[in-house]
Formats: sequence, C-alpha cells, structure tokens
Amino acid sequence: TSDIFTYDPGFTSTASCESAITYIDGDKGELLYRGYPIDQLAEKSHFLEVCYLLIYGELPSAEQLEDFEGRVTRHTMLHEQMVNFFRGFRRDAHPMAVVCGVVGAMSAFYHDSTDIYDPWQREVATIRLIAKMPTIVAWAYKYAIGQPFIYPRNDLDYSSNFLHMCFAVPSEEYEVDPILTRAMDRIFTLHADHEQNASTSTVRLAGSSQANPFACIAAGVACLWGPAHGGANQACLEMLREIGSVDRIPEYIARAKDKDDPFRLMGFGHRVYKNFDPRAKVMKESADEVLGLLGIENNPTLQVAKELEAIALKDDYFVSKKLYPNVDFYSGIILDAMGFPTSMFTPIFALARTAGWISQWKEMIADPTSRIGRPRQLYTGAAHRDYINVEDR
Ligand code: SDX
Repeated sequence: TSDIFTYDPGFTSTASCESAITYIDGDKGELLYRGYPIDQLAEKSHFLEVCYLLIYGELPSAEQLEDFEGRVTRHTMLHEQMVNFFRGFRRDAHPMAVVCGVVGAMSAFYHDSTDIYDPWQREVATIRLIAKMPTIVAWAYKYAIGQPFIYPRNDLDYSSNFLHMCFAVPSEEYEVDPILTRAMDRIFTLHADHEQNASTSTVRLAGSSQANPFACIAAGVACLWGPAHGGANQACLEMLREIGSVDRIPEYIARAKDKDDPFRLMGFGHRVYKNFDPRAKVMKESADEVLGLLGIENNPTLQVAKELEAIALKDDYFVSKKLYPNVDFYSGIILDAMGFPTSMFTPIFALARTAGWISQWKEMIADPTSRIGRPRQLYTGAAHRDYINVEDR
C-alpha cells in the first residue's frame, strides 16, 4: 500500500505492519534507512547521526545533531545502584544474559520514562536507551573478565567512549585508536536497523501490549541472541576458527549441503536477501581495511572466510538456493581483530540494533491505529473429545 513502492498482493497479505523506517529489496540486495542507501551512510555518516535519522526520519542540521549528541552524552551513566545488578550474575554468565537482564531492569530504575502515552517520556526513554547501551554492554564485558567498570566520559565521541569503557583500565592511560573507532562506528551503522527481522518483530509485538520500552527492548535482546539471528556472528567466527585452514573448507561445505547434518554455514543465507547482503559487502571492505591498517591482513581467519565465500558462491547448492554471505559473515573478523572475545559479538549487535528497535517501537506507539498484536494459527491437534477418568484410561 506504500505510495513509493508497489507490492504484489501476495506480499501485502504477509506484511506484519507498515513502516517508513527501513526498506529492503531482497532480490536486488538493497537496504535503505529512511531512503538513504546503507553504503552511503556507512561511508559518509556516523552512528549517532544514523540514530537521529532512524528515530526522527530526516538527517539532522548541524544544530539538531549537536543537541542530540549532547543529550545522548549526558545520559551515558547508569544509576549507581545498577552496579549491584551486574554483580548478581555468575562471572561466567554469557554477556547477552547480563545485557538482557540489565536492560529489563532499567524499567525498575527509570520510572519517569516508562509511560508510553507521554511523548516526553517516550523521548527520554529513547535517549536513555541509545545512551546507556554502550555502558551496559561494556560493563557486561568488564564483569566477564573481572576488570573494574570504566565510567563513560563526556569528552569522547560515542564509539570511542564505548571502546574506552571496554579496553581502558584504571591503572594506566588508554588512548582509543581512531582506526578502531571508525571500524566500530561503521559496524554500529551497518547493524542499526533491518526492517521486520525476528528481534524487531519481537519488540513490536511486546510493545503492542503497551509494555514499557525497557521491557520491550529486553525482549528484542533475548530474541537476537539466537544463532539463527544475531548470535550468528559469534557462531560464524567460531566456525571459521574450527575450519582453521583453507584445505578443510570442502569438508564443511559438504556438511552444510548434507540434509541429514544440522550444520549450516554460519553467516550465510538470509530470510529476505536472495542476493548479496549489502551490509556484507561493506563489512568485507572494512575487514580488509581494518586488518590492513592493523598490519594483520594475513589473518588466517580472514583468508579462510574469503576462500569459503569464493568456493560457496561457485557451488550449485548455494547458487541454486540463493545463499550469500550476510552481515554476520565478516563482522566477527573485525571484532576479533579489535580485541573482542566472540561472546561480545552479539551484545555489540544488540547495542547497535537498539537504534532500530526503539525507532520502530516509537513509530508503532505513536500510531493511534496500532492495536495489540495477536498472530493466529492453523490448528493441527485433536478434534473435540470428552474427559476420561483416570481409572478408565
Ligand atoms: C541475521 O531477518 C533479518 O533481517 C536478520 C538480520 C538482521 O539484520 O536482523 O539480517 C540478521 O539474522 C542474519 C542471518 C544470520 N544467521 C545465520 O547466518 C545463520 C546461518 N543461516 C541460516 O541458518 C539461514 O540462512 C537463516 C536462518 C538465516 C535463514 O533460514 P531459512 O529461512 O531456512 O533460509 P532459506 O529459507 O533461505 O533456506 C533455503 C534453503 C533451505 O534448504 P531447503 O529446506 O530448501 O532444502 O537453504 C538452506 C535451508 O536449509 N540454507 C542453508 C543455509 N541457509 C539456508 N544451508 C546451509 N547453510 C546455510 N547457512
């Protein structure tokens, strides 16, 4: 029904909602944030400007951007009592479990921004989530490695602040490498939103019940964790490491094609893209650039990834099923080169996707016609029958 793109009737009947935020053409491999192509935004914009675009619908003026960045910067600290919340987890808890728990707990600490029908509270909750996710994700990492929490700093830009909270220690100065900042910011931009993927649909469904925004975003974090979705970046790097060398690639290609083997090539395939995921192209270029600048262009994992991609893209199975690398195929290589453990890959994805989740949540809540989501089913169970007493069974 969009007046910009025409859809065939079959598609409109399956669409879960209308949205003006992100457009994907799976056959062309096209991704637009509010009409702007993802490759242009990844090259020319930066993550907080992309957040503004996704949330408010237009690229900001210089004054609007300065105001937005200032508001985000002043909300990066967490309520000090939330420190105890982190400490309630076992040290070996997966950081996604910590992030999911802490984001949900935000509704217990920020009562003044949970009324979804107060536009001002919606705005404050939005800023708080964008601002505090880097602190939550960085502290989940620090807690996992037993290092003290590093507080956010107002003199650093968004991505540098996150990296500083992750890698600085109180005992010495830590200067954030601008190469890592640029790479981190680009990864955030590429992961910011992606139409009605599983976790965004989860946020919308939770939000349709009028649950508070923090609880809805926590639901999105939970859904993203799965290896079929956002957890694929962790699973993909672990798979590439397990393959280890290019001579072992045919063995894994064969397993991925074996119907009786549950193994799938992680980082490959997509529900919507039946062509190259445009984010994967940018991510691959970024991997080359970042590893080159860091002097590790011969990283064996990158070589295995490139050879695996080259072989799969010529293999009839992958070609016939239109399976191409997705956003998760190269992202883990960059994050690994930056010094992150694989357990931090999906929390970083969740940090970035919070921009899309909260934008889509706001769009839905602001729509006066939106109603509670209530998917129906095709019943395949028993026909009507009467109760049988246990002695008669
Ligand atoms: C993300 O939706 C989004 O937008 C998600 C995301 C986002 O930004 O939010 O893009 C992020 O989740 C990317 C996807 C990350 N997941 C992975 O990389 C995990 C590995 N990929 C697969 O598990 C799979 O491709 C899915 C889950 C992504 C899609 O699964 P589908 O819907 O079953 O894929 P399909 O319908 O296109 O599959 C067609 C065929 C099937 O075989 P048949 O039943 O037709 O015989 O291809 C097979 C699949 O079994 N197949 C694969 C495969 N992916 C699909 N075979 C081997 N390896 C793979 N990776």
